[in-house]
Amino acid sequence: MAKILTKREKKLMRKAGEVVKRCFDVLAKDVQEGVSTKSLDETANAFIVSNKARPAFLGYKGYPASICVSRNNVVVHGIPSETEMIAAGDIVSIDIGVGCDGYYADAAKTFLVGNAKSDAEKLLTVTENALYRGIEKACAGNHVSDISHEIQTFVESNGYSVVRIFVGHGIGSQIHTKPEIPNFGPPHKGCVLEDGMALAIEPMVNIGGYEVDILEDGWTAVTKDKSLSAHFEHTVIVNGKKAEIVT
Ligand code: MF3
Ligand code: CO
Repeated sequence: MAKILTKREKKLMRKAGEVVKRCFDVLAKDVQEGVSTKSLDETANAFIVSNKARPAFLGYKGYPASICVSRNNVVVHGIPSETEMIAAGDIVSIDIGVGCDGYYADAAKTFLVGNAKSDAEKLLTVTENALYRGIEKACAGNHVSDISHEIQTFVESNGYSVVRIFVGHGIGSQIHTKPEIPNFGPPHKGCVLEDGMALAIEPMVNIGGYEVDILEDGWTAVTKDKSLSAHFEHTVIVNGKKAEIVT
């Protein structure tokens, strides 16, 4: 079960969330044709550090960069590289985690580069809406899996699939805490949500099947059928009927 945050802890999570949010604003201008994924990582690192915060992913279980940049058929955990260039028509998922005075916030967003094809556009809209529908279920008194069920039902009703092997999570004094928040499953299962619990809700949605392969680097997760994949994530704090989004 997730911890109930104190007033002070919530403040620190909001601070971390603010850095994540502003980091996205900075990166949004750079997600363009011809830019290397490594340069996005460098920009993010410099921004986070200059805000007296810490890039939470750097060194996490040996992860070698500050953010994840996952293009097209890459689901999550794409490692930024000097030789990987963003191209027109790409969809690019960026995942950012930040620590401020020992408290964390985590968020992801998928960007369209240039004139993307309409299936890509629909994928992004469905995935982002799935996230917001999930957040609407993050109310005090609901069960964790009410979030899961809502996301799965919405995504599948649009003809797409939700990734199974990665899940959302509790967050706070560590980037990953209990509970796990799958993006699929029956409703009314798992712990009951209470005011002051912090959750990272993060649907990963594929146009094709939900199966994923992990590449030899041990991180990069790709769709097995090479279909496009999108990822949207927010860190939220449960607060009555309407969760507070801190990112
Ligand atoms: N948002 C992802 C998660 O919650 C990011 C982790 S990336 C890692 O799992 F590189 F740090 F592992
Ligand atoms: Co996360």
